[in-house]
Amino acid sequence: MDTLGSLRRTHYAEELLNEKLGSEVTVAGFVARSRNLGNLVFTDVRDVTGITQLAFDDTTDRTVFDKAKTLKNEYTVIAKGILRERSSKTDKIATGAIEVFVTELNVLSGADTTPFEIRDDIADVRDDLSLKYRYLDLRRPSLNHNIVMRHKIAKIARDYFDENHFIEIETPMLTKSTPEGARDYLVPSRVQPGKFFALPQSPQQYKQLLMLSGFDRYLQIVRCFRDEDLRADRQPEFTQIDLEMSFIDQDDIMTINEGFLKRVFKEVLNIDIQTPLRRMTYAEAMDRFGSDKPDTRFGLELTDLSDLLQNTEFGVFANAVNNGGTVRCINAKGLADKLTRKEIDKLTDLMKKHYHAKGLAFTRITADNRSSSYEKFLSENEILAINERMNAETGDVLLIVSDEKKQTVFDSLGALRVEIAKKYDLIPPHTFDLLWIVEFPLFEYSEEDGRFYAKHHPFTMPFDEDLDKLETDQGACRAKAYDIVINGCEAGGGSIRINNPEIQKKMFRALGFTDERAEAQFGHLIEAYRYGAPPHGGMAYGLDRLVMLMLEQESIRDVIAFPKVQNTSEPMMASPSEVDLKQLEELHIKVDLNE
Ligand code: AMO
Repeated sequence: MDTLGSLRRTHYAEELLNEKLGSEVTVAGFVARSRNLGNLVFTDVRDVTGITQLAFDDTTDRTVFDKAKTLKNEYTVIAKGILRERSSKTDKIATGAIEVFVTELNVLSGADTTPFEIRDDIADVRDDLSLKYRYLDLRRPSLNHNIVMRHKIAKIARDYFDENHFIEIETPMLTKSTPEGARDYLVPSRVQPGKFFALPQSPQQYKQLLMLSGFDRYLQIVRCFRDEDLRADRQPEFTQIDLEMSFIDQDDIMTINEGFLKRVFKEVLNIDIQTPLRRMTYAEAMDRFGSDKPDTRFGLELTDLSDLLQNTEFGVFANAVNNGGTVRCINAKGLADKLTRKEIDKLTDLMKKHYHAKGLAFTRITADNRSSSYEKFLSENEILAINERMNAETGDVLLIVSDEKKQTVFDSLGALRVEIAKKYDLIPPHTFDLLWIVEFPLFEYSEEDGRFYAKHHPFTMPFDEDLDKLETDQGACRAKAYDIVINGCEAGGGSIRINNPEIQKKMFRALGFTDERAEAQFGHLIEAYRYGAPPHGGMAYGLDRLVMLMLEQESIRDVIAFPKVQNTSEPMMASPSEVDLKQLEELHIKVDLNE
């Protein structure tokens, strides 16, 4: 094996495109492929920017040529030579018109045969294998590119917010467990037996306190931890672009963030985002799309049929409406041929299983047949009225969910429209749909616990108009909170915070906290607000989600270097793992697996 010797890289693959033919260049990287054609050798070398073809022929120095013949996939090499035009060009790669005719070659390491081939065009390496060997998987150009782009997006965030007077401040990772929100990750204290730190779910309280410390504008690209089930857009540890501002109101925060989004989309994707972005109230989003993160790239909107059906003889619909619920319908226009009975049955199962729907009623209108699961129970007039409102024509399928709980109808039809759109390719590719959702409810009622919870968090400022309803009509109170939604995914969210101790006290009371409990849990914050508190607010983006959406990836796993898998483990390091008994003893912890 060789050493670097005096050779040092002069160019990354991408930089060769700006170099004059005939120049002497040195490139370095991993062998992606080497072809030995007897008197010719062509070797593709992969670096973090792309591929460079190295060329050797019978005019190449004999020792260099002999070495070239030994090259195998994933060897690491450094090569010096003359940049020249290729004889057989390809447009598959950016550097497909050039090559380096090698004069010096140092082979820096060999490589065993890898457990899978490091190529993008090989579909579906098994997950357990690709994640166990994540460092090899990360060599794949597409994954490598995602991580590089993630860096760029984070850097643009730092630059943009820095230019707008935000100061990056780190906040503790070992902090205090708080009851609201997701489950905490706990860290036992060795020094104080029986006590635990919690890893932060977000730096929420710290960033508010930093506004009270007078920093005026705060930014942090920060790791957050939530012990939740994994999903395509959810990891137990994830990263936020977290910010907070003083002496502002909601519009100021939204405007500054629109500036960020405009910049990041332009610089990364060369896409011009039109600002100000659309704003939709929470109520409208639920009403039309059944979701507070609506994907508005396609139709399939929800239509309310409650008024038409409240007096129907068909109990399923009438009871839903008369017990505070709703009947809503989606017209899957022109999909009758695709949405067969069998397909509708599958969707019905999905609605029942995941969204608690009691069923999915349908009418399917094909050229030679009209079949319906509910029309036999309705009067002629009711059927006509539904048809008219839904603009039902030949080729359409009407899909209806009714329930005494409006939320169940929203959840099921909201999910159904996305499911149908994905399955039948109704979503235009490469489009970005950004909008704000505003006027969130301040509280969320839990049937299970029989009480209201803060929908965002307990420090969120109510609408001025709703302040007098805080303790009397929680369900009607709206929050100065906003989410940024991109292509049907919540990419970020935030709120204006309560900076008035009296409102904060009322808020705690509305949440069912006694003054004592509020004091015990949030005393430090309540006290802090007594010493002068500017009006302030902020928001946080999920960086992983933003990158995933911008790069049109299916899962945030594809934009995280070392992600966790379904059972919250990380196969490469094999974590979590058991630890020595001695370590546990020091922490005063006994593990009882039988419990
Ligand atoms: P929130 O809880 O809405 O707000 O989180 C902000 C954003 O973080 C992302 N996110 C996640 N991404 C990946 N995996 C997860 N498990 C996960 N959970 C959340 C989402 C979300 O929009 N402190 C407040 C913000 C504020 O009020 O300023 C907060 O954390 O994209």
